[in-house]
Amino acid sequence: MNWPEIINLPKIIDKRGNLSFFEHPKQLPFAIARTYWIYDVPGGEMRGSHAFKEQQEFIVALSGSFDVVLNDGIKEEKFSLNRSYYGLYVPKMYWRRMENFSTNSLALVVSDKKFDAGDYIRDFEEFKKLKHGTQNSF
Ligand code: TYD
Repeated sequence: MNWPEIINLPKIIDKRGNLSFFEHPKQLPFAIARTYWIYDVPGGEMRGSHAFKEQQEFIVALSGSFDVVLNDGIKEEKFSLNRSYYGLYVPKMYWRRMENFSTNSLALVVSDKKFDAGDYIRDFEEFKKLKHGTQNSF
């Protein structure tokens, strides 16, 4: 998949409490190599202002809410995550930031790659150049 997409997850409703899950290849378009989570975010803070050259991710708001803003170098789209039964698929080469975290929010992120500092693009101008070439970067 080359486009960001909200993926709805199964929700097993039970009076003892609900249960959701994801696995590859049924819900996820990639096999998971790494899982991390972001928590205890102070009010007003922003995370993840960068893109990845190769890594794909899937982000779920396990608790609380936050926004994931994706920029393809030309336009920006905001995805508000606030339920644990859906998540956002983020393809490689999308600039992303996470913001507007609610108190006690918990962001679960799964990736198809092990951690690799060399996969990060942390300069937005460099990202636009790599994504679109010089003629389209504005
Ligand atoms: P970073 O990805 O920059 O955080 P965010 O995108 O949420 O702002 O990671 C912050 C620090 O944590 C950075 O020094 C790298 C380290 N880190 C790991 O060692 N392993 C990981 O899986 C992740 C995601 C980060």
